[in-house]
Amino acid sequence: MRRFQNRVAVVTGASQGIGQAVARHLSMDGATVYAADVSADSGDAGGVRSRQVDVTSEVQIETLFAEIHAVHGRLDMLVNNAGIPGEGNLGELTVDAWNRVFAVNVTGQMLMCRAALPLLGSGSSIVNVSSVAAHVGFADRAPYCASKAAVLGFTRALAAELAPSNVRVNCVCPGTVQTPWIERLVGEEDGADAKLAGMRARQALNRIGEPSEIAATIAFLLSDEASFITGSIIMADGGMLAVR
Ligand SMILES: NC(=O)c1ccc[n+]([C@@H]2O[C@H](COP(=O)([O-])OP(=O)(O)OC[C@H]3O[C@@H](n4cnc5c(N)ncnc54)[C@H](O)[C@@H]3O)[C@@H](O)[C@H]2O)c1
Repeated sequence: MRRFQNRVAVVTGASQGIGQAVARHLSMDGATVYAADVSADSGDAGGVRSRQVDVTSEVQIETLFAEIHAVHGRLDMLVNNAGIPGEGNLGELTVDAWNRVFAVNVTGQMLMCRAALPLLGSGSSIVNVSSVAAHVGFADRAPYCASKAAVLGFTRALAAELAPSNVRVNCVCPGTVQTPWIERLVGEEDGADAKLAGMRARQALNRIGEPSEIAATIAFLLSDEASFITGSIIMADGGMLAVR
């Protein structure tokens, strides 16, 4: 029997990158997966049900969980992966830009967890995606670093709150991983190769991570094999934090 047979999962930010790899991994392992992303709904394909959900919209989140409640009556796994970058030095930072990053990266996770709560029974599990940026200060990326650090506190508090119900809550902090996000960051102009080399070099394993490697880490935390792990912050960063 496959590891997640008969289980129901929601993964946010699942149209591309890490979220897409997580949705595929869970689906391959037998789960029915709702891939929630702000980008277009592409329907149902191969065990993955794509739904257009902006994690900052309480109305859209309610619609998603109303469907899951009606169809399945429960949720076993929630992966809060949707995130956006937040750049700009302090002097140029607007309150709107700051609030937008927190709305998606932090409040979005809270809204998803709150809406999922009535459907999460004993043995279910949540994974929140943070970043090495929660642990390392990157110049000109204060909103992003601060928002990802907030995810650590949110994870620990929720783990304490939900432990009596045997609902586990953990957090994964990826290092630099090959996704459209990083492709956008590196760009195609002169110097792209040097930027990529720098990103590789700052990780002890001297390479960029693959989305499938983050997906495997998240799947482990969601699985029964991690039944005694809650409130943990797991680095999946190729050793970046270890060598800083
Ligand atoms: N790629 C990396 O190197 C890296 C490193 C550390 C942490 N992370 C984190 O991993 C997560 C995924 O990153 P990625 O590299 O796959 O990014 P990505 O930009 O390639 O994909 C992010 C996905 O999230 C979706 N999204 C954005 N805003 C949304 C919203 N409001 N509601 C629903 N969906 C929304 C996007 O449409 C997109 O499909 C993010 O939380 C990011 O902070 C990524």
